[in-house]
Amino acid sequence: MPYFEIIGGKKLNGEIEVKGAKNAALKAVAVALLSREKWTITNFPFIEDTNRILEMVEDLGVKVVRGDNQVEIQAKSIKKNSLDKNLTKKLRASIILAGPMLARTGKVEMYHPGGCVIGKRPIDMFLDGFQKMGAKFSRRGDEFILSAGKLSGANIFFPKISVTGTETMMMAAVLARGETILENAAMEPEIPTLADFLNKCGAKISGAGTPTIRIKGVKNIGGGKLELIPDRIETGTFAILGALAGGKIKIKKCNPDHIRSLLIKMEKAGVKFEERENELIVWGAKKMKAVDISTHEYPGFATDLQPPFTLLMTQAKGTSLIHDSIFDGRLMFTDALNLMGANIIMNDPHRVTVNGPAKLHGRKIASPDLRAGITLVLAGLIAEGKTRIENIYQIDRGYEKIEERLQKLGADIKRINSKS
Ligand code: EPU
Repeated sequence: MPYFEIIGGKKLNGEIEVKGAKNAALKAVAVALLSREKWTITNFPFIEDTNRILEMVEDLGVKVVRGDNQVEIQAKSIKKNSLDKNLTKKLRASIILAGPMLARTGKVEMYHPGGCVIGKRPIDMFLDGFQKMGAKFSRRGDEFILSAGKLSGANIFFPKISVTGTETMMMAAVLARGETILENAAMEPEIPTLADFLNKCGAKISGAGTPTIRIKGVKNIGGGKLELIPDRIETGTFAILGALAGGKIKIKKCNPDHIRSLLIKMEKAGVKFEERENELIVWGAKKMKAVDISTHEYPGFATDLQPPFTLLMTQAKGTSLIHDSIFDGRLMFTDALNLMGANIIMNDPHRVTVNGPAKLHGRKIASPDLRAGITLVLAGLIAEGKTRIENIYQIDRGYEKIEERLQKLGADIKRINSKS
């Protein structure tokens, strides 16, 4: 199995470009199934998660042409109602294919989706939403089946704000009969981007990016070209890397507005940065103060940026309280940071206290999930000595050729392809 070998302590300098947003790419592939016409998705990141979803739609008989940073998808017809079990188990986001499949073919058979082990990942709100839109739900062992002649518009109130839940119901409603109103909807920037594009293709969606989204069903939608927005989690992760290990790092092709709540916290901690149009420059921070964070749905502090921020706080003076309010398994990786020399106390599954600053030392560790995985890479880059990170499939799920991009900044990181 491949692993990363990192020799820490090098000052990083130079430029790094942000790729298209993973969590927008996955939804754009799903939404392409709503149309019989060709969709071209540009600024497309080729990472393990997007490879998996492309394989899933190919398995449904949909034509996919992979190009240079772009993909063309044409779903003239959808030949199967069932989603591949093995692929579904690898990708939480496979649930988003259910909406377009129901809308196009009237039936979906699938298994509970897998993905990052970051706590409970229920799908009750999806199943409730589809049933409100007129779908029938049944189970066959651990497989579940949704069927509907044609979906009907419905009023759906999300008891908990859910990004994928909002996107899935929005997609399902595009071809439904009548109007759907989604309340307590998620407001992540990927959602209005998708809605704007769908509207250009003939959908009638208003309010995306606010807590109430209205979708008037239409008979069909066309094709077109969708450019993905920059990945805000990559942007934030590179900003934290700049504070930890820069020199001076210029992050290009990004939108600093999408990580506002992180930038406010970094500023409070004493990190120096400069925002420009589509660029962010971050300088290495010599002395940082501890600050607290509590994750929140957008525009609050993203849970996906909690792991690298927790690492940042291991280098700040004082005590910070880190509260991950969204997932109950996202702080488990702090054990690995403690192995490297951090002083982090787990208060409960949602809260840790970080005491800093702490000197980190290279260790052999494994990447438990995507965002924890990249955090361990950052930890390796600032640790004294050699770090070996295993289970890097988890990192490859979300960051395209990350070692090559970090090497360009001067990092000593190698991918070692070992057979054992
Ligand atoms: N929830 C339910 N029932 C449901 C669905 C969700 O109770 O039916 C709960 C979850 O357990 C969680 C909360 O609602 O406590 C929010 O989860 P949400 O549904 O928003 O998460 P998601 O849509 O599965 C997306 C991103 C995650 C990101 C979260 C939160 C995608 C593909 N994934 O997940 O990204 O952490 O929103 O912002 O968009 C990542 O990229 O590493 C990642 C995990």
